[in-house]
Amino acid sequence: MAWGNPSSEAVSPPSPALEVTDLCFGWPNGSAALDHCDLRLPGPGLWMLVGGNGSGKSTLLRLIAGLLEPSGGRVALTLKPALVFQNPDHQLLLPSCGTDLQLGLVQGLPAPERQARVSAALAQVGLGGFEGRPIHTLSGGQKQRLAIAGALAGDAGLLLLDEPTALLDPESQREVLQLIERLCHRRERPLSALWITHRLEELDHCDAAAQMERGRAGAWQQGPALRRRIESRLPPLPGGRADG
Ligand SMILES: Nc1ncnc2c1ncn2[C@@H]1O[C@H](COP(=O)(O)OP(=O)(O)OP(=O)(O)O)[C@@H](O)[C@H]1O
Ligand SMILES: [Mg+2]
Repeated sequence: MAWGNPSSEAVSPPSPALEVTDLCFGWPNGSAALDHCDLRLPGPGLWMLVGGNGSGKSTLLRLIAGLLEPSGGRVALTLKPALVFQNPDHQLLLPSCGTDLQLGLVQGLPAPERQARVSAALAQVGLGGFEGRPIHTLSGGQKQRLAIAGALAGDAGLLLLDEPTALLDPESQREVLQLIERLCHRRERPLSALWITHRLEELDHCDAAAQMERGRAGAWQQGPALRRRIESRLPPLPGGRADG
């Protein structure tokens, strides 16, 4: 899978950050997790996905990240993706914050540059000066912010967040959500984030949200409107190309 500016002959309109077209995936046991799914992220911003258990949200993120191979359709990316999981203990590997972030850096950088990137990434997530802190001394919210710093240090432009606040207390949940909102709306190099949630109140903070059902994503909607729709148990909007 390739990302980045394809060539000097690139012309308008600009490519979307992510375009998923007609994507299909079935598990070996026969269960179809994605069924001709279309999804398009028009640009930087915080884009949310909701949907019932088993509707295919996590499978979609894994396909976008290249961890699974689709059985049909395609994923086109213009940005480097990074996954952030529900449980940060599943992705933080080394004992201290600094050494863990070093792991995700692109290869071949000189040592001072590596240090500078790690420090800058920590500062961006509110963990400035935490280079030497043992990871086991961090709170759940701090660990999640460290996982996000790992994506920043590795130069990811597209964050794929799979229920990143599910295990956090309300204050840490707010902190992580506000951090992502800030990163997605900053003036310099704003990020694109695709955020899966079951916490409907989070929909009030996104740029748009789509509902997954039986392996397909519906059209983009205003987050609060989709929240009301789900809370009042109205049927989801039909699936199809979501073009923001
Ligand atoms: N490793 C696996 N092996 C076989 N089937 C799987 C596997 N992982 C997921 N599935 C199936 O794929 C379908 C989609 O699952 P997925 O985990 O993507 O749903 P989800 O929308 O993320 O659900 P949840 O909200 O519970 O996290 C489900 O039917 C699920 O049982
Ligand atoms: Mg899931």
